[in-house]
Amino acid sequence: MASIKIKDDIYFVGSMDWDRKLFDELIPLPEGTSYNSYLIKGSEKIALIDSVDPAKKEELFNNLAKINVTKIDYLIANHAEQDHSGSLPYLLEKFPMAKVVTNTKCKDFLKDLLLISDDKFQVVNECETISLGNKTLEFYMTPWVHWPETMVTYLKEDKILFSCDFFGAHLASSDIFVSNECEIYSSAKRYFAEIMMPFRVQIRKNVEKVEKLNIEMIAPSHGQIHKNPKFIIECYKDWISDNVKKEVVIPFVSMHESTQKMVDYLIDGLMEKGFTVKPFNLPKTDIGELAMSLVDTSTVVIGSPMVLAGPHPAAVYATYLFNLLRPKTKFVGIIGSFGWGGKMIDSLKEMLTNVKVELFEPVFIKGHPKKEDFALLDKLIEEIDKKHKENNIV
Ligand code: FEO
Repeated sequence: MASIKIKDDIYFVGSMDWDRKLFDELIPLPEGTSYNSYLIKGSEKIALIDSVDPAKKEELFNNLAKINVTKIDYLIANHAEQDHSGSLPYLLEKFPMAKVVTNTKCKDFLKDLLLISDDKFQVVNECETISLGNKTLEFYMTPWVHWPETMVTYLKEDKILFSCDFFGAHLASSDIFVSNECEIYSSAKRYFAEIMMPFRVQIRKNVEKVEKLNIEMIAPSHGQIHKNPKFIIECYKDWISDNVKKEVVIPFVSMHESTQKMVDYLIDGLMEKGFTVKPFNLPKTDIGELAMSLVDTSTVVIGSPMVLAGPHPAAVYATYLFNLLRPKTKFVGIIGSFGWGGKMIDSLKEMLTNVKVELFEPVFIKGHPKKEDFALLDKLIEEIDKKHKENNIV
């Protein structure tokens, strides 16, 4: 990697992880990711904003050497998760005079997660500033993007917001700055869906807070830097709003084509009513794509056959994920088929503890769908359409 100047005396010194395929052993990374770390050389003091995943620490040290960094005064930790903080113990070994600057909650996390000793910290509070001489860092608490301790750092003179995960995207690219807004829209929405969607109500306050700052650039710690901050702020405002689209997401699994035939019928009927329909064949699905589709869909219909008297495990996984991500979905349906009965519908319904949704009458049929079963699906399609009209979802 390289040290890249983003403004006078401000450098990107992070690392691209081109080959990483999975985050948290859960989230697929089709475009890799980056760990963005930024060095700010003030006239008197030097600060490093966030670090990199420990697997990439040598790259960070090489990047610092390239711009002749021999001392660091402040190691700013906007977030305690190890992809940004994991290199702090190594940085403290190399720069023993440096102070880790963070809030009280983050300090507690870092002591627990990385065993950093108490004397290494300098705690900052809301709106507190640290002078680097000709440059000033100002700190704002932005909890729940996506941990309780998250904060952002604002570089006043240069009007840059260092936002860590907030406004970030899992994307490895040789373009440090956003070059294609469609591409970053998709990566950032996916990232929002995967880790921030459950906290959208709390995130509203954070967006309102940072919007009041005079920002010319948003430099997150994953993905590209925004020279047009309004773009990503407006995206977030849409995602955290209560607005939903006339859209039906269908996560489903089928073993012997009965559920598949029901799903196909449902798709056709909904398309004829003008709905956008997004089916996800679960055993073949990238769950990040599924999560992204949940950001603004009005309706989810889960499709599953019975396996050993319960729902198919793939449908259980998708339903668990849906409940965990707490999207703003308003309506949920369950469809599927069985051979000899069981408790599939109740088992799936009981999993929906975190979401406030209206449930449609399930369509649960025996064996291959027959004429009367398709009639039940027609009824479901009519019901979905009616609910959207009643709620003015267009
Ligand atoms: Fe990129 Fe929550 O760490």
